[in-house]
Amino acid sequence: MKKIMIQDMPNHVGETVKLGGWLANKRSSGKIAFLQLRDGSGFVQGVVVKADVPEEVFVTAKGLHQESSLYVVGEVTKDERSAFGFELQVKEIEVIAEANNYPITPKEHGIEFLMDNRHLWLRSRKQHAIMKVRNEIIRATYEFFNDNGFTKVDPPILTGSAPEGTSELFHTKYFDQDAYLSQSGQLYMEAAAMALGKVFSFGPTFRAEKSKTRRHLIEFWMIEPEMAFVEHDESLEVQEQYVSYIVQSVLENCKIELERLGRDTSKLEQIKAPFPRISYDDAIKLLHEKGFDDIEWGEDFGAPHETAIAEHYDKPVFITCYPVGIKPFYMQPHPDRDDVVLCADLIAPEGYGEIIGGSERVHDFELMKQRLREHDLDENAYAWYLDLREQGSVPHSGFGLGLERTVAWITGAEHVRESIPFPRLLNRLYP
Ligand code: 4AD
Ligand code: MG
Repeated sequence: MKKIMIQDMPNHVGETVKLGGWLANKRSSGKIAFLQLRDGSGFVQGVVVKADVPEEVFVTAKGLHQESSLYVVGEVTKDERSAFGFELQVKEIEVIAEANNYPITPKEHGIEFLMDNRHLWLRSRKQHAIMKVRNEIIRATYEFFNDNGFTKVDPPILTGSAPEGTSELFHTKYFDQDAYLSQSGQLYMEAAAMALGKVFSFGPTFRAEKSKTRRHLIEFWMIEPEMAFVEHDESLEVQEQYVSYIVQSVLENCKIELERLGRDTSKLEQIKAPFPRISYDDAIKLLHEKGFDDIEWGEDFGAPHETAIAEHYDKPVFITCYPVGIKPFYMQPHPDRDDVVLCADLIAPEGYGEIIGGSERVHDFELMKQRLREHDLDENAYAWYLDLREQGSVPHSGFGLGLERTVAWITGAEHVRESIPFPRLLNRLYP
């Protein structure tokens, strides 16, 4: 008997096959039982007709508990009514292991209960769909950068420096030295760009941020491209191409998942380069016009400000050239103004906030030394980083895309806690 996975059923119509799976849900009457089966690759309905199977098979089907594991044998048939398009006409059932009192029943549950049971909650249809979309974004990311001449480089997780400011660092001992969990691989990616030209990283990053919002995780995954000989405007073009590519890849390859999530795909279909750009100066003016009197030039935007700006557009929008005072030390000054830097944040539509932060980097040795001093950063800890400016320095730019915020936006999830398998939040380290 051929053992297949649910996702392969379309290639086996009319054949009798064996599936390993779990019982996601069940409905039955005296004559027929509908088993909702899942095997990780997908969900399918198994139909057990009393008149067509031995008595004990029907009795077993009727007695199954949610999440019991099974082998089932049956014939693959087409079924136009289901989203998947196929069904299994069950002939045999072998129970592998019973599940008892599975806590996540088809009724509604509170979020804290679901989070306490995250290890089981991952099995549900919606969470399964979000993880599949997350995987597609990662797959499309590798494809996009590999197709465009980038080399994947892995920066360290344990570091001695803090690119995004020292207040949000996780500290640990490194034998008799101090070390920090990486907030961003950027500085190492700059070194890698000087060796390999165009590089990208994908890895976990850590921020001890005391923020409890739907956009903040303590541990999140970031994609960080860095490009030698690429200036600010050219970097924005790469960013809009990249974001368009992942959205269009999800639309093409995750149709079943987007439907299961109830995502309005017409909004995603519009996500094609180019994206609009608005300067920080004009964004402040726009906010004042919209009645936000609480923000002045020189201050950073909060979530309500970003949402108000994003509402103006049906695509992600770049806010460019922020004041030098609210951005990190490494950003290249504007050529005509000393109060703003060559940077941009990309704000997602529909209230999902900043998904990318990026900039051109200071490449002048003297200016970089001055910036380190101004930011009270230890020149010894950054000696290697300064070296990059002394040994054939070139203009270069890069950016970081937060994976979980991007997944939340594309799937329409309410909160980033659903866009990572095991979220680390302010008050949560379990499971
Ligand atoms: O804007 P950020 O802090 O930029 C950097 O770290 C740069 N060094 C990246 C670079 O240029 N290579 O973070 C980049 C992105 C944000 O736009 C956001 O999407 C995400 O990382 N991010 C978070 N996501 C979830 N939880 C948090 N606490 C996040 N902090 C940042
Ligand atoms: Mg940022």
